[in-house]
Amino acid sequence: MASKLTPNCAIILSFFLFSLIYVTSTKAQLETLFPDNVKVEAGMTHIHFFFHDIVSGKNPTSVMITQPTSSSKTSFGMMNMMDDKLTEGPNPSSKEVGRAQGLYAASCLGELGFMQVMNLVFTDGAYNGSVITVLGRNTPMHATREMSVVGGTGQFRLARGYAVAKTHTMDYTTATIEYDVYVTTQ
Ligand SMILES: *[C@@H]1O[C@H](CO)[C@@H](O)[C@H](O)[C@H]1NC(C)=O
Repeated sequence: MASKLTPNCAIILSFFLFSLIYVTSTKAQLETLFPDNVKVEAGMTHIHFFFHDIVSGKNPTSVMITQPTSSSKTSFGMMNMMDDKLTEGPNPSSKEVGRAQGLYAASCLGELGFMQVMNLVFTDGAYNGSVITVLGRNTPMHATREMSVVGGTGQFRLARGYAVAKTHTMDYTTATIEYDVYVTTQ
């Protein structure tokens, strides 16, 4: 009985061990590279930061490039181009880790809803120079929004995953959004 099962067991066991070693080394590598803001869970890299969309004042980082249609109650037709700062903490003066470059376009007639497309350009640590590309639907009045990670470059080549956005604070000048991005490149 035991000898019959041996070949299969050996294959399964070695596959399991290989997977375990592979996941463990990836996790250890990433945690060494990014001890502060990265946790690896089940093969996913978790990146956490705050996004600051500054639409007015002396130094806006987000500008309206098309006006909404005049009859719209949901800003339909409005588009903003952004180069928004990404920081480690919620305070805009905390350490900058990257920029969100792209646009959000009000594409929903029924509520405030954006088609958001952006490159998360990392400018710090071992992610410096790497990019995660996000494309998704963002309804800013909802507590939690999820957008797709559709690709990446550098450390994030072939990235897939998702970004979860939650409004931290919002006023007439600035929206501060907390982002949790989960990606895998495996
Ligand atoms: C990021 O990379 C750029 C270009 O290689 C370099 O000039 C800059 O000093 C790097 N920044 C950090 C914080 O490592």
